[in-house]
Amino acid sequence: MGLTEWAYSLSESLLSDPLPRRWAHSLGVAKRARSLGPIMGDDAELLEAAAVLHDIGYSPTIATTGFHPLDGARFLRDHEKADERVVRLVAHHSCALLEAEERGLRQELEGEFELERPHLVDALLYCDMTTTPDGTQTTPAERLDEIVQRYGPDTIVGRFIQRAAPEIHAASKRVEGRLVQVSTDDQPM
Ligand SMILES: [Fe+2]
Repeated sequence: MGLTEWAYSLSESLLSDPLPRRWAHSLGVAKRARSLGPIMGDDAELLEAAAVLHDIGYSPTIATTGFHPLDGARFLRDHEKADERVVRLVAHHSCALLEAEERGLRQELEGEFELERPHLVDALLYCDMTTTPDGTQTTPAERLDEIVQRYGPDTIVGRFIQRAAPEIHAASKRVEGRLVQVSTDDQPM
């Protein structure tokens, strides 16, 4: 079984029944990952696999600490013996270190999982932050507003996402810049 085929099948088995909206979001994030194919080169499949798996830590089957990047990455590492690049991307998706700080779990997260290469970290963040909870496309600004409203500004997630906002905007701009660069390079002379 190929990397992406395995990833879709595993994520569906963990999310689609207990958390159908989270599954729809995950499919939307994976679709965004496919759209980044032109700037991902040999990492396109890796990004798509990480995208569809990034939120499996919400699954009641594997949620243990309640901090979904850590729960998801530990499950992939220990139970699935997954490709370590996928594990790292899930562990650190969308500024997870900042949320780990809010939860007192930063040492666990960074002690157990290294960061993947920056262009992959940026790309996964971009895919997640331009996809609504229902799996449709949105902008990082709208996504941030929605998260703050859904969780409340003075909750763990609300505080985390407001602290992460500058990096979310910066990473999104870097990805958009790479997309523009590729489309410009493609123009006939
Ligand atoms: Fe997530």
